[in-house]
Formats: sequence, C-alpha cells, structure tokens
Amino acid sequence: MGFNFKSGQLFAESLNVKEIAEKEGTPVYIYSKNHMQNQFKKLDGAFSRKHIISFAIKSNSNLNIIKLFSALGAGADIVSKCELFRAKKAGVDPQKVVFSGVAKTVNEIEYALENNILMINAESYDELLAINETAARLGKKARIALRVNPDVDPKTHPYISTGLKKNKFGIPYDEAFEVYLKAKEMKNIEIYGIQFHIGSQLTDISPIADASAKVADLMKHLRDKNINFRAVDVGGGLGIVYSDEDNPPDVKEYAKNVERAFSDFKDAVIVCEPGRFLTGNGGILVTKILYHKKNGEKNFIIIDAGMNDLLRPSLYQAYHKIKPVMQSGRPKIKCDIVGPICETGDFFARDYEIENIDNGGLLSVFSTGAYGFSMASNYNSKPKASEILVDDNSYTIIRKRETCEDLISGELI
Ligand code: LLP
Repeated sequence: MGFNFKSGQLFAESLNVKEIAEKEGTPVYIYSKNHMQNQFKKLDGAFSRKHIISFAIKSNSNLNIIKLFSALGAGADIVSKCELFRAKKAGVDPQKVVFSGVAKTVNEIEYALENNILMINAESYDELLAINETAARLGKKARIALRVNPDVDPKTHPYISTGLKKNKFGIPYDEAFEVYLKAKEMKNIEIYGIQFHIGSQLTDISPIADASAKVADLMKHLRDKNINFRAVDVGGGLGIVYSDEDNPPDVKEYAKNVERAFSDFKDAVIVCEPGRFLTGNGGILVTKILYHKKNGEKNFIIIDAGMNDLLRPSLYQAYHKIKPVMQSGRPKIKCDIVGPICETGDFFARDYEIENIDNGGLLSVFSTGAYGFSMASNYNSKPKASEILVDDNSYTIIRKRETCEDLISGELI
C-alpha cells in the first residue's frame, strides 16, 4: 500500500501526510505513484498471452495519472472525445485505445477515426450504422467490436452493474449474432473484436468466468460464419479492498480464467479495461475538521470536503474508511461525518466510530484514487480540490486547487 501509519502518523510513501496538507491546504487528493505502478505490474504480469491493458480513464482522468500508466505500456479505455484528447496529451499509443460508451456522437466517432484508435466498441445496431456512415464519409474503414450484454449477474451494487438484460449497456446476447452478420455486410466496417463489461467492483470471479464462457461460445458460432476476431475485450471491473470484509479476486486467478475461456482464440489479443484496480487504493482525500455539532443525540463531525469532492457515499452509500491523519489515542465517538454542502445526502459516513479529535484536525478518506476527483463537481460553487502525486520522498502538484475565477471563466455576461 502507498499509505501507511508509522508511529501513529499517516505517510504517503515516505512523506508525512500532515506536512503535505498543511503546506498545500485541504481538501486535497494525494496519490501514490508507486502503488499505482505496482498494481499495473501485478495485472500485466498475470497474463501469459498477448494482451493490452487499456486504463479506464474515467476512474482518474488526471493527465499525469494517464501518463504514469502509458509509460508502463498501458493503453486507454475512453468513453468520450475529451477522454481521447486527454489520452493523446498523455502520450497514449492510439493503437491501444478502445472507445466504449453507450452513445457516441458522430463528432466523437469522427475524432476516433481520425486518430486511428484500435477499435470502437459499438453498443447498438443504430450506433453501428452511425459508425459505418461516418467512416464512409471520411473514406475510412472503422475497426469495431460489438459490446455484448451477456446477461450475467455481476453481484455488485445495482448502480454499477452493467451486464444484465435490464441495463442499458451493450447489445443483447441473443441479438449479437445477427448484428455481427449485418456488420459483416457493411462496407466501411471492419470487424476487429468483441467486448463485454458486466460491472464494476466485482469481488467474485465466477460472473466474469460465466460471461467469458458465453461470449466465447458466441465467437465460435460466428467463426462458423467466417467472422474472425483479432481482439477480445473483457472490460474492467476488478474489485479492490475498501473495508476489511472485502475479499476481491486474485489477479492471477482472474487472468487465468479469462485466458482459459478464450483458449480457442489464441491469435486474438486480450484487451482489458481496468480502472479502479489500478487507481482506487492509490489515492486518499485529506480533509480538515471544521466543526463538531450535536443535534439531540446525534453527533456530527463537519469537514471541509463534501459530496462535490467525493460523490460515492452520497450516490451509492459507498463505504470509505476514514481515519485521523494523526492518531491521538483518544476515545472514539459515534458520529456522522458530513460535508458543508446544502444537501442532506452530503455525508461521507453515518454512525461511524472514530477517534474524537478537535476542530482543525485532519482526516484521511481512503480508497479514493478511483471515481473520486473524476466525479467531482462545482456544486454550491465549491472550487475543486488540488491533486498531488507522491513519488517516494517527493511530491508534485498535478492539479492546482481551483479559484473563484476558474469557476466563472467560461461564463459570459
Ligand atoms: N470498461 C467499461 C466499459 C466501463 O463502463 C467501466 C466502468 C470500466 C471499463 C472500468 O471499470 P472498473 O475497472 O473501474 O471497475 N462511478 C462508479 C463506477 C462506475 C463504473 C463505470 N464503468 C463508482 O464510483 O463505483
């Protein structure tokens, strides 16, 4: 882990978190470069056949984070034009970029084609038509995969489950065969791959293995129709430890299961699109206690970070471990840890037991490297936090704290 307590003080790699926060202010996201690099190397080393790890930029979109992975050989899983723009700025090889997302605009398809990315993952027949038409207009052939919805229960939070029939994602499993046959007839489409992504924060391998088996079966039927695949994209979804009860899958087991399922398609490159696995436990959000308050029986600790900085608890009732940056040994209180935003839903934890430290003390919200800053907003006109990347005993500010001027910079009077 990049974050550890030594003699009761929290360190990010070799640096004292309190010292960083006092110098740079709060709220602040602090990332560990070495944790993220190690996660990449673990996953990369787990595969024994040709593969591409396309980092899901949506989990943490900072250019420096994308660059950190691309320097290790990663590609990018993008879901918008501006994510491709970011990937290019960070030096990602377009031949390792896959374009996911349920509704790509014509403008986005054009941009992807102009940049010659590895493949566009079409999520509906309508979208496939749009890709074909756009490619024809540009005089190009679009390399595509169809995102197949295998109707497998990923056993995760309903909001981050994507591979069930009732979800909006992908082409229904039963229809994918026909859509591939139609794609084969399209002049400006080159069938390159097949993709699925059943959900996020998966803590059990079996749904991935089930989905892989279903998709491999479909591929066999398509091969009988002379449709061959150069890439199998197994999506992202690998879970991480948020609380001590979590028991996420071992990456080696994960890779072994995927490779076994597609062993009949040895020539195809395996693409995977991890986000959270690479970045989640590589980040903390450090925040300051502003006030204590008691309403009747209920204790509140009010902090300077809010749902605008970290939306996951409000949106998914997600659990994030929270601890004082400096352990005091004081008795614990049971409290709600809440932000300053004018919403009842602006909480980080409810009925949470934590050492009762004074106003001005610092708290660390753990496992916030993924879907933390990337989901931040300016609600209540709160400037976004700064982001810092720690590398052993030095750190770099990789995003400046926003100012009021930044907030109105695009507005016209
Ligand atoms: N590929 C596709 C097509 C995806 O939709 C996603 C995530 C990923 C890859 C990366 O998944 P990961 O490896 O990070 O699980 N905001 C939610 C997570 C939403 C995930 C959306 N799609 C959260 O905070 O938990």
